[in-house]
Amino acid sequence: MAPAQDQATWSGQIDISGLRRTFTRGARSRTVVDDCSLSIEAGKLTVMIGPSGCGKSTLAKLIAGYDKPDAGKITIDGRAIKGAGRDRLMVFQESALFSWMTNESNAFFGLRQSGQITKQKVIEVESFLDQVGLLRFAKRFPSELSGGMQRRLEMVRALVNKPDLFILDEPFRGLDAMTRALMQENFATMFDSTRCTTLFITTDIDEALLLADHLLIMTNSPMKVADKIVIDLPRPRKLATIFADERANRFKEEALNLLYPEAMRAFEAQAAPAV
Ligand SMILES: Nc1ncnc2c1ncn2[C@@H]1O[C@H](COP(=O)(O)OP(=O)(O)OP(=O)(O)O)[C@@H](O)[C@H]1O
Ligand SMILES: [Mg+2]
Repeated sequence: MAPAQDQATWSGQIDISGLRRTFTRGARSRTVVDDCSLSIEAGKLTVMIGPSGCGKSTLAKLIAGYDKPDAGKITIDGRAIKGAGRDRLMVFQESALFSWMTNESNAFFGLRQSGQITKQKVIEVESFLDQVGLLRFAKRFPSELSGGMQRRLEMVRALVNKPDLFILDEPFRGLDAMTRALMQENFATMFDSTRCTTLFITTDIDEALLLADHLLIMTNSPMKVADKIVIDLPRPRKLATIFADERANRFKEEALNLLYPEAMRAFEAQAAPAV
């Protein structure tokens, strides 16, 4: 596994101010994100939680540079974001592996594109693959992997490029509960060993508390930050034991008290006519 970065070299600090994104269709328009300001601290795992449809993926795409805001500013380490870049890599809700390439070729894809394959890099990629239990599947193809294994391969593919910011948009959605729990713990270990600045999006409070250094709770319609909770529980955390901890339960209660009214508002908004 790649060594964790020294705290002095952590990068990927994101600062967002006054962000707005409005979708327009014909005469109708809907502002999904409005007056949204937040920070993602370098070297931290920031989890964003909010009800389905509140605008999390919209915001993730703005940060990744796949979409442009109508107002506001996003900077990474003080530089304004202008379009997509190798400094910000994203893993989506859906699989995005190349089916015609072996798993190993998928893992090396970004490095090959940027001409960065060195002996040291090969060792590093193999070590990542080994850590997520995929080394013996290196010469196979993505179609021969289970859903959970595909997701792990996507994470390796992103992390070997050492992005300044790693964005994961509900990467474990759709996996069965047991696989999901294993994936969460596996991901937490990967994060602890790299400390790559991460934005992890979820709708699952238990997943959020297992992973988060900082928990951003989002409001709905339009989306902004309702609260930021610092989850200073010791690491590594285990799903099986975390909620035996009194403080973890207090964090959960605090988060759920904020999320419940937002989920109700999201439900009501979804019942309203679409844009
Ligand atoms: N390109 C688009 N054009 C029009 N409306 C859009 C577009 N992208 C997103 N929306 C709308 O913006 C709102 C927020 O969508 P978004 O996908 O960001 O939500 P989300 O919080 O990621 O939800 P989920 O948790 O279900 O993934 C939804 O009402 C959606 O219909
Ligand atoms: Mg989404």
